[in-house]
Amino acid sequence: MNTTQFIPKSALKSIEKATFTWQTPSNIALVKYWGKSNPQIPKNASISFTLNNCHTITTIEFEKKKASENVDFNLFFEGKQKDEFKPKIAEFFKRVANYCPYIFEYKMTINSENSFPHSSGIASSASGLSAIAMCLMSLENELSSGLSSEFINKKASFLARLGSGSASRSVEGPLVVWGNHPEIEGSSDLFGVKFPHKVHPVFENYQDAILLVDKGEKQVSSTVGHNLMTNHPYAENRFVQANNHLGKLSKILQNGDVKSFVNLVESEALTLHAMMMTSNPYFILMKPNTLEIINKIWSYRKENDSNICFTLDAGANVHVLYPFSEKEAVNQFIKSELSNYCQKKQYIYDSAGFGAKQL
Ligand code: DP6
Repeated sequence: MNTTQFIPKSALKSIEKATFTWQTPSNIALVKYWGKSNPQIPKNASISFTLNNCHTITTIEFEKKKASENVDFNLFFEGKQKDEFKPKIAEFFKRVANYCPYIFEYKMTINSENSFPHSSGIASSASGLSAIAMCLMSLENELSSGLSSEFINKKASFLARLGSGSASRSVEGPLVVWGNHPEIEGSSDLFGVKFPHKVHPVFENYQDAILLVDKGEKQVSSTVGHNLMTNHPYAENRFVQANNHLGKLSKILQNGDVKSFVNLVESEALTLHAMMMTSNPYFILMKPNTLEIINKIWSYRKENDSNICFTLDAGANVHVLYPFSEKEAVNQFIKSELSNYCQKKQYIYDSAGFGAKQL
């Protein structure tokens, strides 16, 4: 695999000080990534909607210093120094060091905040790591002479992936594929690419309401979950199924067959959780209210001839997906009925968005 393209070749300029701020989105997978090998290579291709409202805003101040062996950085989250978040970011810097050798020559001060409540069960690693990756690429762009925006996005996704797989899908939008797939031209295990085909209008501005069912810390981290796919009795079939699903979904997104979309997306969500329940050790991340909501969605769909459906992350929260044309009716249903199953009645209306923005 060609990773040398991501190692800076030309001599870099010298810059004393620079500050960059990026807003990068969270994403919700339709075909799930669950299972990986080293270094952060997915066992199957996945596709997600980039979100519009759920995002991280990160500023990094770079100050030139004598090059050292360690990466020197301070981390502030919502204005407060957060040393407990440092090990994950330190590990990220270690993984990208080869591709961003300039990080050893700067003291970095990182300030980060999320648009969604902290520990809401919404994973912040995708938006958080893609934001840092974009800031690094802004510095690299200044240090090098004129990188193309295409290369900047590609390498940012490549770097973000090394921090967290799903972060590779948080640079562009509204639909991003990560993982090599024969039917998606340009797709790669190394970085995310924009879905290359014209999408049917029914899937434009698709709505995603995130129902906050359980805001507690996850009992099992994604990394542990991914590793449990090694020696999992159903893993190989699952990886084949996911790639088949992506091929089918690619056609559905182009021809506008919403009924098949609903079927495929819900099957993906339940299969993800079935993999968790059938690993060893086994675990369950859904809560009773997750199931209550799923059943309510199914009843609503039947009674109203609606195209509402759900998907799940590695947690208890439910993402409710629906076409823009149903926005008014479904938002009302969420407010009056589904919110009763959310912690403190909390939910977030979101929709498909267009990716990272420099502020
Ligand atoms: C269930 O990207 O969080 O959300 O690469 O270990 O950081 P790491 O895992 P992560 O896994 C996300 C899993 C998922 C499905 C998905 O987003 O595709």
